[in-house]
Amino acid sequence: MLLHVLLLLLPASAASPIQCYDDQGKPVDWFYLYKLPHLHHEPAQEGLKYLYMDAQSEGWDDGKTSINDSQSCVGRTVGPLYEGGDVGYILYNDQPPKQKDLGDASRTCGHTKGVVVFDKQQGFWLVHSTPHFPPPKAEGQFSYPSTGTTNGQNFICVTYPFERFQTIGEQLKINQPHIYDCSIPESLAAAVPAMAQLCKHNVDKWENVSASPANRSVSLLSLAGTEFISFAKGASFANDLYHSWVAPTLQSNLLVQFWRRSTGILPSDCSPSWEVLNVDLISPGQRVTFKTTEDHSKWAISPNGETSGGWVCVGDINRDEAEEKRGGGTVCRRDAVVWKAYRTAALECESCSGTVQACDKASR
Ligand SMILES: *[C@@H]1O[C@H](CO)[C@@H](O)[C@H](O)[C@H]1NC(C)=O
Ligand SMILES: *[C@@H]1O[C@H](CO)[C@@H](O)[C@H](O)[C@H]1NC(C)=O
Ligand SMILES: *[C@@H]1O[C@H](CO)[C@@H](O)[C@H](O)[C@H]1NC(C)=O
Repeated sequence: MLLHVLLLLLPASAASPIQCYDDQGKPVDWFYLYKLPHLHHEPAQEGLKYLYMDAQSEGWDDGKTSINDSQSCVGRTVGPLYEGGDVGYILYNDQPPKQKDLGDASRTCGHTKGVVVFDKQQGFWLVHSTPHFPPPKAEGQFSYPSTGTTNGQNFICVTYPFERFQTIGEQLKINQPHIYDCSIPESLAAAVPAMAQLCKHNVDKWENVSASPANRSVSLLSLAGTEFISFAKGASFANDLYHSWVAPTLQSNLLVQFWRRSTGILPSDCSPSWEVLNVDLISPGQRVTFKTTEDHSKWAISPNGETSGGWVCVGDINRDEAEEKRGGGTVCRRDAVVWKAYRTAALECESCSGTVQACDKASR
C-alpha cells in the first residue's frame, strides 16, 4: 500500500524543469513571441519589448518585461540550461554568438536558428530568428544580444515529451544546422541517436554533407497533445520552401513575412497552384506598425481562416534565391486564435502584379 502511494507520488515530485515557461514562470505547452522592432521615434533602450501568446491568450498580450530579462518567458525557458543538470542540448545558429570565421559554412550551412533542451522526461524546441542568440552554456547565464534589438524577431517554443526528440533530431539533421554548442549525455544518447550524431560530428565544423532525404515533414505532438507540423529541408531541396512545398501540403495560399533586406528576393508567386504573397506592412496586435524591412521574422499564414482557423507557420527561411539552396524550415499548426493574431498583423502585401495593396485585396 505504502509502496503504491510512493509510486504514485514519484512522477509529480520528479517533474522536469525543462519546458516552455510564460513570463510568470508558469509551465506552458507552447508560446509564440513577437519581439517588436526598435522604431526610430522611441528612446534608445527600446527594441526589447515583445508580444506574447499561449493557450490562455485571446491574441497578442504585452510581454511583462524586457526580452533580455532572465524573468522573461525566453529567459525563464532557456535559463535552466545554464544551471547544470544532466540535460541534452543543441544550440544552433547560422550566425553564432561569437562570430567565428565559418568560412564557406556561413553561406552554405542551414539558414536555421534554434535551441533544443531536454532531459529523460521532456524538453522544449525553441525555433527563432535572432542572430547571435543564445549564449553558449559556458557563458553561465542567459542573455539577449544587443544586435537583436533593432529588428522584429519571432520565437515559437513547444514543450515535447522525451520520445519526440529523436524525430526532432532527424528534422534538424535535414536542416544542416550550424551547431556552436551541444551536449548529449551518455544516459540519453541511445534513445536520441540523431541528436547524438549531430552533436558528435558538427560542432563548429559544419560539414557540407548532402542531407537525405532533401526534405521531410512530420507531425509532432506536444506534451499536452497539440499537433505541430515540422517542415525541414536541406540544401539539395533547391526550391522556395513556401510555394513549392508548404502551400501545396497545407492546401492553402500563404502570406509570408520574411527579411527583405537581402539580394535575390523572390517576388510574390501567383503561378499555379497556390498563391504565395510577400507581406509588406505589419502591425501585430495593432500596437505599432512597421515595414517588413524592419522585421527579421519569418512567418507564414493562410490569408483566410475565419471559419475553421487558418494555418500559422514560424521558422527560419526567407524567400530569396540563396536560401532555396540552404537548409531550414518552419513549424506550422492550425489554430483559430493564433491564426487571427498573425493574420490581423499582416496589413499590406505585394500583389501578384508587384504593387503594394491591402493584403485582402492583393490576391489574384
Ligand atoms: C537589457 O538591455 C538594456 C538596454 O541595453 C539594459 O539597460 C539592461 O540592463 C539589460 N537588462 C539585462 C537584464 O541585461
Ligand atoms: C555545399 O553544397 C551545396 C549544395 O549541395 C553546394 O551548392 C555548395 O557549393 C557546397 N559548398 C561547399 C563549400 O562545398
Ligand atoms: C518534399 O517536397 C516535395 C515538394 O517539393 C513534396 O512533394 C514531397 O512530398 C516532400 N517530401 C517529403 C518526404 O515530405
